[in-house]
Amino acid sequence: MYHRIVVLTGAGISAESGLRTFRDQNGLWENHHIEDVATPEGYARDPELVERFYNERWHQLQDPSVKPNAAHEALARLEQEFTGDFLLVTQNVDDLHERGGSRKLLHMHGELSKGRCPRSGQIFRLHEPFGNDNCCTCCIPAQRLRPHIVWFGEIPIGMDRIHDALEECDLFIAIGTSGTVYPAAGFVEIANHHGAMSVEVNLAAKERHSLFHLHYEGKASEILPGLVDKILAGSLFA
Ligand code: APR
Repeated sequence: MYHRIVVLTGAGISAESGLRTFRDQNGLWENHHIEDVATPEGYARDPELVERFYNERWHQLQDPSVKPNAAHEALARLEQEFTGDFLLVTQNVDDLHERGGSRKLLHMHGELSKGRCPRSGQIFRLHEPFGNDNCCTCCIPAQRLRPHIVWFGEIPIGMDRIHDALEECDLFIAIGTSGTVYPAAGFVEIANHHGAMSVEVNLAAKERHSLFHLHYEGKASEILPGLVDKILAGSLFA
């Protein structure tokens, strides 16, 4: 039986909820340059362009057809029924894990539903898209909120807590991530190095899947319910 589980998710777990991934066909990085919309330099150069990029994704999250899928719900069930330590680390900035019932959750790349004061760093829940009138209430004069997103070149959120969990875990599961962006891409090696069993769930076999002890190829929403049953029954590697 396992005592400490760490789960890492990427855009692939939200793909079946209708949210685009980054590097699959028709991915977000096909129509946007990372340096223009996902770097501090891009934001300094053209904040309106960056705001349009995130407002488009913010509006999509308000669409009632975009909701948690069976993979999100299976992870929430695992968290609730597993009696050991559990941490879900997501690279995703959508709120589908929360809406699917997850609570022991860490958004290492930030959250689309929040804005951040560029001066104080204070975080605000967004009730409307980014723009001129979306300002902080912590400064005089009020500052235009920036997306509470970790851009390339910025430090991901919660890394100390994530490292501690990876070093202690005995089961590490990566779901729907291409494993191309560090530090998340290196989490499997940290977990393996500290004796964990590692499992990957991905639509397609990845060149990196040799790093995992077990690989499930297919849709996360179809694989996760049965995988969670096996983990809870202690029969994953039986
Ligand atoms: N089920 C399981 N896996 C899926 C599914 C699905 N239904 N659909 C797609 N995938 C897999 C793809 O095979 C791919 O490996 O999800 C992965 C998505 O990869 P990316 O688009 O690169 O997304 P991600 O790994 O989350 O990107 C990491 O890169 O651009 C930055 O900050 C951004 O957090 C993001 C980070």
